[in-house]
Amino acid sequence: MQLFCSLQRDRPLCVVRKMKDFIKQQIAEIQAQVGKRGVLLGLSGGVDSSVCAALIEQALPGQLHCIFVDHGLMRKNEGDEIAAVFSKKNLNFIRVNAQERFLSRLAGVTDPEAKRKIIGEEFIRVFEEEAAKLGSVDFLAQGTIYPDVAESGSDGHKKVKSHHNVALPDDIGFAGLVEPLRSLYKEDVRAVGRELGLPEALVARQPFPGPGIGVRILGEITREKCDLLREADAIVREEIDKLPTESRPSQYFAILPDLLTVGVRNSERCYEHIIAVRAVSTRDFVTGQYTRLSHKVLEVIAARITAEVAGVNRVVYDITDKPPGTVEWE
Ligand code: XMP
Repeated sequence: MQLFCSLQRDRPLCVVRKMKDFIKQQIAEIQAQVGKRGVLLGLSGGVDSSVCAALIEQALPGQLHCIFVDHGLMRKNEGDEIAAVFSKKNLNFIRVNAQERFLSRLAGVTDPEAKRKIIGEEFIRVFEEEAAKLGSVDFLAQGTIYPDVAESGSDGHKKVKSHHNVALPDDIGFAGLVEPLRSLYKEDVRAVGRELGLPEALVARQPFPGPGIGVRILGEITREKCDLLREADAIVREEIDKLPTESRPSQYFAILPDLLTVGVRNSERCYEHIIAVRAVSTRDFVTGQYTRLSHKVLEVIAARITAEVAGVNRVVYDITDKPPGTVEWE
């Protein structure tokens, strides 16, 4: 049921009515499926799981348990921001501070797929441990949307990378899955979120991968590298967020290639990190173009990062389309 995309552009009133209908219909379906039983949701703070939580909260007030596994690979201040929004809601919000666990499992690991696998496995392990503490919860909810289904290979599409957030294992022991957004594209999900009254900062959030900045730090992940990347990334986002909405890329962030280059600081030789800036414009994230950001914006980003982030003396801009590049570097 790909409801709104085609309607959104020309008939907004009709869209609002369609959204209200969609929400009403999903609430009725969730209530019929779950009844008085409990539902568990892994909340990442992304648009999909957040809208999923808000929808289920409306359908089943108090019956939803949300677990937010903070793996320490979030963007600057993001864990606290997510906790601030959701701990106020009627959804039994639990934040698990698992940063140390993830970092120690990732120590010494450099292969991209091995890193993804570890992050995915550890995520499920932490989630299961927390779920076990809650006792028996009958249903598992997931914010799966249509492109997740397509990109994970289940619709005859080729799998390019392992995404950990689509499928929790079947043997996790639930009576059923609740996936109210499975038929929707991202823009539709945002529209549903707005209709449900979620804050704009959350609804308009750019996509963020399940393994977080773990796939934006090439090679071994350490706390120091995470902190450095977070600072640079916050500057990239802050500067690009100043652009008018219509000229903003679909996704924009910083990458730490984990390479040092020679530079000059205070008239002395320095040997410091490179930061790469990635910004892509795409409709479906399956293909995309690098965004033609103005030199003015790029210069401000480069000047700020090299001045404000200790240990970075060079900034480069990735001008690769997808394909052959992917959005993320790992
Ligand atoms: P790529 O790098 O494959 O990214 O061109 C396409 C889109 O998917 C996001 N992405 C992920 N999302 N778990 C996710 O939830 C993942 O493992 C993952 N890897 C990539 C990426 O940020 C982009 O939006």
